[in-house]
Amino acid sequence: MTSITVIGTGYLGATHAACMAELGYDVLGIDRDAQKISELSQGCAPFYEPGLNELIAKHTASGRLRFSTSFAEAADFADVHFLCVGTPQLPGSDAADLRHVDSVIDELVPLIDGQALLIGKSTVPVGTCARLGARIAQLTAASDARVELAWNPEFLREGSAVKDTLTPDRLVVGVGSIAAEDTLRDLYRPLINSGIPFLSMDFATAELVKVAANSFLATKISFINAMAEVCEAAGADVTQLSQALSHDPRIGGRFLSPGLGFGGGCLPKDIRGFVARATELGVGHSVTFLKEVDAINLRRRTRTVELARELCGGTFEGKRIAVWGAAFKPDSDDIRDSPALAVADAISDLGGHITVCDPQATDNARRRHPSFSFTEDPLVAAKDAHVILHLTEWAMFQDVDPDLAAQYARRLCILDARNTLDAARWRLAGWQCASLGRQAPKPAPALT
Ligand code: UDX
Repeated sequence: MTSITVIGTGYLGATHAACMAELGYDVLGIDRDAQKISELSQGCAPFYEPGLNELIAKHTASGRLRFSTSFAEAADFADVHFLCVGTPQLPGSDAADLRHVDSVIDELVPLIDGQALLIGKSTVPVGTCARLGARIAQLTAASDARVELAWNPEFLREGSAVKDTLTPDRLVVGVGSIAAEDTLRDLYRPLINSGIPFLSMDFATAELVKVAANSFLATKISFINAMAEVCEAAGADVTQLSQALSHDPRIGGRFLSPGLGFGGGCLPKDIRGFVARATELGVGHSVTFLKEVDAINLRRRTRTVELARELCGGTFEGKRIAVWGAAFKPDSDDIRDSPALAVADAISDLGGHITVCDPQATDNARRRHPSFSFTEDPLVAAKDAHVILHLTEWAMFQDVDPDLAAQYARRLCILDARNTLDAARWRLAGWQCASLGRQAPKPAPALT
């Protein structure tokens, strides 16, 4: 059985490690974080991702999936190593922080003797492979080791990461030799045999595919949110507009849901990193539109705060605000650049008392925002609330009975910033139901 290692066990790496075990490989997951490695070794994912816990438990039990903090063990275990460490936004800059990728290369490569293929999966600025290739050559110059690099960007979405990894839309690989391409083809043979396209290209193009894909998706979301701004000014309805556009197969309906916009650990930092890198390459003008994509996205947060303030009679002072949602999207506990928490934070700064409800992300959110109250019950969050803000579209919020919620809230006022609640049903139960990009809200019920 082929052995592989997966270095970095965050949202990407832990999922990749478990899925490669599912495909039949003997997998060793590596991370510096001993606590994370201990949880994973006991068969538990250190974060919430549907289906992942089951897969990790299955393969830690079968012995096909193990975890360690030791790079020496990694070098001994396999000659194929997947690099899945994070590339967050550099503090104080728009560029990507590559220190984790760099340190894996610097630590692992000197431990390798013989032949090895390092396969990067992290999202990196174009040109990184070339730079890392030169570094590897330097590190192995005085040894017999033959270490090659390939890049295999990952397109998984949190919330459907297991499915996206086991049945991706496509496999993209950037390689510098036929041998590396063959190794990747062999590794992904079960997927290729099931008809998944395998696209092999040079390093720079493979690096660009990932950021171009995320830029396109972010642009699509900001496009419909720009239309929402126009709809607000014109008294039109952006959800109807979006629906009508989606019937055109050239446009399509996916990533055309208007609302509070995108967040998370990928889209926001990837478009910023892309602009920074394109600027370094002297072609910043080609992607300036991404700055507007970012600005439109952030304006949705400001607009939500303004609308909530209007609904609270012009001030948050002394007001109780129920915030439904903390994760950056449903089916995840990830709060990185969460639009919901950004809105809650801004309202809290303006004097509002925040109670956050989220079925999975309350622990993460509490660590970052200890002054907020937390609950996993939307009705408890609604208790005595002057306004409910629906900020992350978990299915559980769509199931809340507006008549029942009316018995808890102080005022029957809700802002659906994700446009996924049944507004007619809430209105029928007596609620004022405001939303983004639809009709301007009617005056809020009197404050008591
Ligand atoms: C994204 C890419 O989709 C994925 O291919 C890449 O590998 C990583 O980045 P992810 O960050 O998990 O995945 O979430 P995604 O489903 O893309 O959603 C991103 C954000 O956009 C979320 O905050 C979501 O709420 C928001 N969104 C999405 C919208 O506001 N409207 C939409 O129509 C779709």
